[in-house]
Amino acid sequence: MKEIILKKFEEVFGDAEGAKAYFAPGRVNLIGEHTDYNGGHVFPCALTIGTYGVARVRKDRRLRFYSMNFEQLGVLESSIDDLKPEKEAEWTNYPKGVMWAFGERGFQIPWGMDILLNGNIPNGSGLSSSASVEVLTGYILRDLFGFEVTNQDLALIGQYSENNFNGVNCGIMDQFAIAMGKKNHAIFLDTADLSYTYAPVKLEGAKIVIACSNKKRGLGDSKYNERRSECETALEELQKVVDIKSLGDLTEEQFEQYKSAIKDPVRVKRAKHAVYENQRTIKAVEALKANDIAQFGQLMNASHVSLKDDYEVTGIELDTLVEEAWKIEGVIGSRMTGAGFGGCTVSLVKDEAIDSFIENVGKAYLSKIGYSADFYAVEIGDGPCTL
Ligand code: GLA
Repeated sequence: MKEIILKKFEEVFGDAEGAKAYFAPGRVNLIGEHTDYNGGHVFPCALTIGTYGVARVRKDRRLRFYSMNFEQLGVLESSIDDLKPEKEAEWTNYPKGVMWAFGERGFQIPWGMDILLNGNIPNGSGLSSSASVEVLTGYILRDLFGFEVTNQDLALIGQYSENNFNGVNCGIMDQFAIAMGKKNHAIFLDTADLSYTYAPVKLEGAKIVIACSNKKRGLGDSKYNERRSECETALEELQKVVDIKSLGDLTEEQFEQYKSAIKDPVRVKRAKHAVYENQRTIKAVEALKANDIAQFGQLMNASHVSLKDDYEVTGIELDTLVEEAWKIEGVIGSRMTGAGFGGCTVSLVKDEAIDSFIENVGKAYLSKIGYSADFYAVEIGDGPCTL
């Protein structure tokens, strides 16, 4: 891949002198969905697929961007003196947002850059292609200009730019999973204080299979921000009767005890999901550590049911993929992953069942939904790197 992107860089920008190649992964969340902005736990991992990039410093303040995923857009130009979100800037709003966010943190970017990207995460799949671009950009800026920031800072800067430049009120999970990724490990992150541990994912005789619904999902126009504010209102209502900082502070029992403080039945369901999903995530990590993969799978299934019935972020495409997966012998667990409303599912599938999983779920999906799903057996990879 390094040769391919360097060659393309040379083709697009004239020469590749002084250019360096980089990579940042995508991510998949195994369990702990819509908990990261509720002070709960998440359990994501970085993937070996992600975003490749080539960058070099210019002698002026211009920015030139090219993406091999959007070749029809050609070279998109801008300047580091003019970092504001614009519709015409298309995908470059992500790297530009990160450059702006560095500035907000007091890191002034001295020179412009030529940047080429090539991602192999399916677009809009819910495997965090945008967070991958954000962390990659931060990593490049640190490498090219020597800014003193940790990988955890790269995650926070990426989230800050997504929230304040790109207008999506996302939590910290995606950028954290990408910036802090570790091969063959998932990250058990407490979003209340960013404490985390790595848990080895040893799936002897099984793999993580992603099923991509191909229903495009734009977080900005989805109901993501709406869910977030429903949870915030529920929290305010609960805080009148119990001393908590976030929904993640409650056990299931405490929630049942205090839930009558929430004045709207829809908000009760939203908050219930946030509380129960957080507890499920804690239990799932315990099960994994005890090598009880079957229990881990059961908790994944329960997570999907809660996202469908209480949080209402699944939809017919994701429900079909998951419900068909559950029918297949050798599927340990299956659920939607990421924000929902489209995107993809994550399943743990025994090696010998992978072919029949892809064939049967694929067929049922096509006949019910009218277009195909795509399937990928994925590996857990490391965080960002210089190639
Ligand atoms: C998106 C957001 C994350 C998280 C998930 C849902 O991926 O970017 O912060 O909230 O949805 O778990």
